[in-house]
Amino acid sequence: MAEQKTISLAFTGASGAQYGLRTLEVLLKQGHRVYLMMSKPAQVVIGMDTDLKLPGRPKEIQRFFEARFGIDEGQLFVFDKEEWTAPVASGTGAADAMVICPCTAGTLGAIASGVSDNLIHRAADVALKERKPLLVVLRETPYSAIHLENMLKLTHAGATIMPSNPGFYTRPQSIDELVDFMVGKILDQLGLEHELTPRWGEDRLSPP
Ligand SMILES: Cc1cc2nc3c(=O)[nH]c(=O)nc-3n(C[C@H](O)[C@H](O)[C@H](O)COP(=O)(O)O)c2cc1C
Repeated sequence: MAEQKTISLAFTGASGAQYGLRTLEVLLKQGHRVYLMMSKPAQVVIGMDTDLKLPGRPKEIQRFFEARFGIDEGQLFVFDKEEWTAPVASGTGAADAMVICPCTAGTLGAIASGVSDNLIHRAADVALKERKPLLVVLRETPYSAIHLENMLKLTHAGATIMPSNPGFYTRPQSIDELVDFMVGKILDQLGLEHELTPRWGEDRLSPP
């Protein structure tokens, strides 16, 4: 098995909860440790985008996912939005990388302006100051000038903006395949191996 990494994963209240949930599943199944954070709007959107019935409190959510993905205690930690004692609140406890998936325009703006009034914003601020990868899987369309400026600002600060727009050249036959296209892109950025989606040109490499 590949080296175990620690990844901070944040779900915010943008549509596309499937991308975040699948990212969580793949990271856990690969054996990585995940620090999960979830905004209140994210919990609302998960209820609208999926059939999942999540419990309300962070530790209950942790147990829910441990059971769902068949993982042992100690691999997944779910933190409350004001749990300032969580490792991700400080540079000394920063994860190897942070992924915000899906990311709202609101969270994008809060991070771009340096507001750290919830644990997701603070963990992102910490990732940037510690020069750790920060992947922002934004979901909004169309973009206003404010969104575009915030994306540029975060890019200059070291983040990677990767809007949730899967490609169709792999001829996806299902929503799951579209979701895996994006999750594969996230794993590529994290430097993690996967076979979630075919790679461009691979089928033309075989000898004649
Ligand atoms: C069903 C639903 C879907 C939403 N989809 C989006 C979205 O795709 N993008 C976005 O930026 N905000 C979206 N919002 C609005 C955000 O949830 C709202 O701005 C919220 O305050 C964001 O807070 P958060 O970033 O802390 O999660 C949606 C809200 C609901 C209820």
